Amino acid sequence: MVTVAICGLGGRGGLCYANCQLKEGFDNMKVVAIADLSKELVNEYRNKLGVPLENCFSSAEELLSKDKLADCIIIASMDKDHYVHTLKAIEKGYDILLEKPISTNESECEEIRVKAKEKGVYIRLCHVLRSTVYFRKLKEIIASGVIGAVCGINHIENVAFWHYAHSFVRGNWRNSAETSPIILQKCCHDADILTWLLQDKPEMVSSLGELRYFKKENAPQGSIPRCGKECSVYDSCPYNAEKFYLVDSFLNVTEETRKDNWMLRAICRGEISEEKIRNGLNTSDFGKCVFNCENNVVDHQCVLIKYKKGTLATITMSAFTQSCYRQTKIFGTLGEVEANDGDNLIKVRNFAKGTQEIIDINKLANDFSGHNGGDAIMLKEFLIRIEDRKNGIKDFDDGIDDDIIISHKICFAAEKSRQQNGKPIKICEGK
Ligand SMILES: NC(=O)c1ccc[n+]([C@@H]2O[C@H](COP(=O)([O-])OP(=O)(O)OC[C@H]3O[C@@H](n4cnc5c(N)ncnc54)[C@H](O)[C@@H]3O)[C@@H](O)[C@H]2O)c1
Repeated sequence: MVTVAICGLGGRGGLCYANCQLKEGFDNMKVVAIADLSKELVNEYRNKLGVPLENCFSSAEELLSKDKLADCIIIASMDKDHYVHTLKAIEKGYDILLEKPISTNESECEEIRVKAKEKGVYIRLCHVLRSTVYFRKLKEIIASGVIGAVCGINHIENVAFWHYAHSFVRGNWRNSAETSPIILQKCCHDADILTWLLQDKPEMVSSLGELRYFKKENAPQGSIPRCGKECSVYDSCPYNAEKFYLVDSFLNVTEETRKDNWMLRAICRGEISEEKIRNGLNTSDFGKCVFNCENNVVDHQCVLIKYKKGTLATITMSAFTQSCYRQTKIFGTLGEVEANDGDNLIKVRNFAKGTQEIIDINKLANDFSGHNGGDAIMLKEFLIRIEDRKNGIKDFDDGIDDDIIISHKICFAAEKSRQQNGKPIKICEGK
């Protein structure tokens, strides 16, 4: 049995990780300590998971002030707090499942890696894409040589208009002065997966992007500061908060999925009811018109990365997509790959043979919930590591390594470049 402490019981710490204790395949997991600023969330998970009252805390700081309470800890608080919470957890000797990004500051990322190594603490960063059957298959295809040497990759992070409006205009990640820029918050996954697929180091990064649309000057005539049916552009505006959060069919919410809907729970903080949603929309930023928020985060950004072996990779991050998925086109000297984790299909074409193989990832696993199945696989692998630790194994190859630091360096460089109109920024010097 692996005992687990959790800091932050929101979308990630609560819905995604804490709930796993009640799911099939997690018999070896027991949550024994929890912390959140929200009393309601702490009570909810205390009752659900049977956490002893004396181990329920009103902040991560309070939990981390106690002697070590569990075999490992999950840090799922907000980006800007990861540094302090993680350093404290390292000091207490916890092995850590750390939500990305490692930190919102580049030097702090490196410091965390060094401190963890010095203390012998294992940290698994939640780069969940690496754990998906889909991306593992893509890596296998490239490594097999079937498409030859990879000359380029075009990769698109389709954020989805509703996800962008919820998180990056109205929600937690709307202002980069308070949290991470979107290229770090959303695309450290993409920078990581490209580097991991290519097994190469980036040499140079350049990026352009801006906040074009979600600004006061673009508010449609007749729109009002807080959304509602009375807004004169209700019918034509896809961003109306009332549609988002109260019209179930708009975002495909069903009776069954409502209670664990991460967007609704961000408004309600705990159990969902129409009354709580209405109250949240009247009092919080989630009810505001998207052209009337304190947001400054880019809505469309392109990043160009030159890798040392010559591969050119691009990442396009866009708010302006219908749904949330990733597309990847890989240009090889002997063939090409077109892949899309929305439909879970990977098409591999070989130039010499003129063939196309379609690999249907849907047939290779059963559970594609939570980041295309990556969340559950990652947590299971982490728990196995902790069990191994208890059996005396010290070193693992999937902790915070060079590649993970590099994924963050790419994002910090991309943001720096974007702020300087695309100026190329060098990252990994030497060979
Ligand atoms: N791996 C991924 O793909 C992925 C996806 C989404 C979010 N994230 C990351 O996970 C982290 C959490 O995101 P989320 O979506 O769960 O956000 P959230 O707002 O739903 O949850 C964060 C929770 O942390 C709590 N909290 C804040 N400060 C705290 C403190 N000092 N002590 C204890 N609790 C505290 C809040 O009350 C909240 O309940 C973020 O860093 C985010 O970037 C990762």
